[in-house]
Amino acid sequence: MPQSFLDLLHSRRSIRKYRPERLDPETVDLLREIALRSPSSRGINPWRFVFVQNPETLRELARSKGHGSAFLAGAALGVVVCAEEGESDVWVEDCSIASTLLHLGAHSLGLGSCWIQIRNRRAADGTSSEARIRDVLGLPDTFRVESIVGVGRPAETKEGVSEEELQFDKMRDESWS
Ligand SMILES: Cc1cc2nc3c(=O)[nH]c(=O)nc-3n(C[C@H](O)[C@H](O)[C@H](O)COP(=O)(O)O)c2cc1C
Repeated sequence: MPQSFLDLLHSRRSIRKYRPERLDPETVDLLREIALRSPSSRGINPWRFVFVQNPETLRELARSKGHGSAFLAGAALGVVVCAEEGESDVWVEDCSIASTLLHLGAHSLGLGSCWIQIRNRRAADGTSSEARIRDVLGLPDTFRVESIVGVGRPAETKEGVSEEELQFDKMRDESWS
């Protein structure tokens, strides 16, 4: 397991293959705490989280998009990251931070995880991914859905991104020219 924040970043990857076992409740509680410790603009905390461990619901959510969500059917947990849209004009940023912390936090606990983009996405039949998820989970109409973070015990290993792969050409000091 990574020891420091830099170790964590050096070894972080998106993991989409999971072992079949469930997560123990203590681990899930740590993920709940991680989500709720996310910083948000003006401390408004517009996010709402639905922790889904029911395999049937996970299979249903795995059909939320035409591409890129099917792996959720094999996850032990899907954290659906939503927001009460009217509470903040920057709910997208707030939900993105929470999704990132869940991804990094899962890795820090020795778990694999991957973000599934929901906002602005459609299912295979053309319906909005958000609308499908509202239906499946009984979310109020005022909720927006940013992402689902799929989590499980990793069944694949990936090398972290090497220093050579870092795109330093996309970075300048002091000014762009
Ligand atoms: C905003 C965002 C949306 C993403 N959406 C998806 C998705 O819908 N499905 C998926 O399988 N991976 C998704 N990913 C994971 C990316 O594909 C992955 O981070 C990228 O390919 C780099 O790989 P790495 O995370 O292993 O370094 C998403 C990542 C981000 C940050």
